[in-house]
Amino acid sequence: MKSTLATHSANQGEAIVAATEPARMKAATIRRYGGPEVVVIEDMPLPVAAAGEVRVRVCAAGVTVADARLRANHAPRGFGFLMRCITGLIRPRHPVFGMEFAGVVDRLGSGVAAFSPGQRVFGITGLKGGAHAEFLTIRADARLFPLPETLSAIEGAAFFFGGLTAADFLIDKGDVRPGDRLLINGATGSVGSAAIRIGRHLGAKVTAVARSENHGFALELGAHEAIDYRAGPLSGQWDVILDVMGTLPYRKAAPMLAPGGRLLPVTATLAEQVSYGLHARRRTHRITGGVVADKKSAMERLMGLHASGVHRPIVGVVLPFAEIAAAHDLAGSGHKRGNIVVRMP
Ligand SMILES: NC(=O)c1ccc[n+]([C@@H]2O[C@H](COP(=O)([O-])OP(=O)(O)OC[C@H]3O[C@@H](n4cnc5c(N)ncnc54)[C@H](OP(=O)(O)O)[C@@H]3O)[C@@H](O)[C@H]2O)c1
Repeated sequence: MKSTLATHSANQGEAIVAATEPARMKAATIRRYGGPEVVVIEDMPLPVAAAGEVRVRVCAAGVTVADARLRANHAPRGFGFLMRCITGLIRPRHPVFGMEFAGVVDRLGSGVAAFSPGQRVFGITGLKGGAHAEFLTIRADARLFPLPETLSAIEGAAFFFGGLTAADFLIDKGDVRPGDRLLINGATGSVGSAAIRIGRHLGAKVTAVARSENHGFALELGAHEAIDYRAGPLSGQWDVILDVMGTLPYRKAAPMLAPGGRLLPVTATLAEQVSYGLHARRRTHRITGGVVADKKSAMERLMGLHASGVHRPIVGVVLPFAEIAAAHDLAGSGHKRGNIVVRMP
């Protein structure tokens, strides 16, 4: 159904309205926790841009391992109940998932001057999701930025998740320095593919861990060498171990850490996180884990890394929005290359 609305000026504190707009939109909803089959596409009312908000027509959205974990309530051991407390005990509190997106400004709520209709934008919605839909609303002063000319909408939708995590762990938590020997355990997915490039930019000598089928890809990204995790226990000495997949807790990583080495657990069980928090220094080693806060300043830093040629998201698979359940399946597989993006019709 279509409705016709008038166009107003944002400067007068009124909403800017497209000449015609659909009254409803398609959104992927998750109304109960479960496998990819619980993701269905529904008709929903268009969200309204409130004061200070922007309505974005979504062109593409990332489908991340976080989306898959939240959908399946599949968290690292110990985090399941905590995660449900945040996302909804019985069923998801916000049925439309999706945290990263790229699109076009469709409507401005009153008081918004920083964006204009038709402008290309990208950003992060956070835990409330909403990006797996044709339209979303977001505060103009939140995590929303103009999409650089150098990125397509598909790339924009894959820009932040892995890149922010890699930058936070390698730069802020790990303080990776030129000459550091860096092991990336889980090197070819969203986080790992960004970490290879950022690690190289920081001057590290990078060893990538992934299946041998992905070694050529890891070397192309800039890794100096690659190891297959199926070939037996890892052996060697590294100054920094970025444990993306959570298969190298300290007891396994310790023999591989050089004196003064740092373990950066991107994924860890609740018991490990608590233990690392209580005992961050062991022998000569330091362990720094935790959750990445998607701060605006970190997003700006990542855009800076893009502008200087360091960060460019890898998009492994693009699927039409209608196939979002398949995208969830891939996102939760633990074996994707780079990022998965759904393209809106
Ligand atoms: N702490 C935080 O704030 C934070 C933020 C973002 C993500 N994360 C976590 O980071 C993890 C990875 O996210 P992602 O999006 O990068 O995942 P992903 O895209 O699925 O990538 C998985 C990577 O791990 C490799 N891998 C699979 N099994 C492995 C094993 N047993 N040992 C070593 N490597 C293995 C895969 O290589 P092959 O394909 O060759 O098997 C691939 O390179 C998730 O657990 C996610 O929850 C945490």
